[in-house]
Amino acid sequence: MKEQIDQENIPSHIAIIMDGNGRWAKQRGAKRIFGHKNAIQAVRDTTEGCAELGVKHLTLYAFSTENWNRPKVEVDALMNLLVSTIKKEIPTLQKNNIRLQPLGEITHLPEEAQGNLNEGVKETSKNTGMTLNLALNYSGKWELATCMKGLAQKIKSGELDPFEMSVSKFEEYIDKNTAPEVELMIRTSGEVRISNFLLWQLAYAELYFTNVLWPDFRKDDLFKAVIEYQSRERRFGQTSEQLS
Ligand code: IPE
Ligand code: IPE
Ligand code: MG
Repeated sequence: MKEQIDQENIPSHIAIIMDGNGRWAKQRGAKRIFGHKNAIQAVRDTTEGCAELGVKHLTLYAFSTENWNRPKVEVDALMNLLVSTIKKEIPTLQKNNIRLQPLGEITHLPEEAQGNLNEGVKETSKNTGMTLNLALNYSGKWELATCMKGLAQKIKSGELDPFEMSVSKFEEYIDKNTAPEVELMIRTSGEVRISNFLLWQLAYAELYFTNVLWPDFRKDDLFKAVIEYQSRERRFGQTSEQLS
């Protein structure tokens, strides 16, 4: 599969809605958390695959603001899994020169999870390869509101003239503070929606939906998505003739 990929046209930012863990477990007559546990191998494989391709940013949607509405046992289990996984994966991130970057309202996570995350961020901060953005307690609307708040403060302090506010200024701000524009967005499990993911950054992303449930997702599924991405004509409003 990998040989079919054009190395000159690798999406610089891939974002993934890792969905279908619950259904994967249910198919096996197991509890939902069994699916979450088995999602870790998919995360490892995908991260490694992206690093191999030379992707610059990989953003993984691990826990949404809306996911707090799940039963407490599931939320607690997810948080525990998060705490243990981050700690365990740091050496692998180091080995692969990957920088860890959380995305979301981290201060609302359990303290132990915050501690491990901060540790991971600190330890990997000098890595120069891919950046792994982990979206945790994240929602697109929350992110936009937070950016607006930051910009409003700059205006208030006189650092920014409100008349200078523009799409590119906002872009610059959001890029630096959170994540750059997405080129390929993948969602697993057959659901066809955005679920409050990177609302600003997905503006011109190529969307790829697959029925594969997240715990089954492997490098070859990633490569298949990249091959599909490379077959698309990204016109950005222009005509096909203008591009050729
Ligand atoms: C995605 O899988 C993981 C999280 C949202 C944390 P789900 O848990 O949503 O799995 P399904 O959609 O119920 O199958
Ligand atoms: C989106 O999946 C969030 C994550 C993958 C973390 P959900 O399973 O929570 O999304 P909905 O509720 O089906 O839209
Ligand atoms: Mg789901």
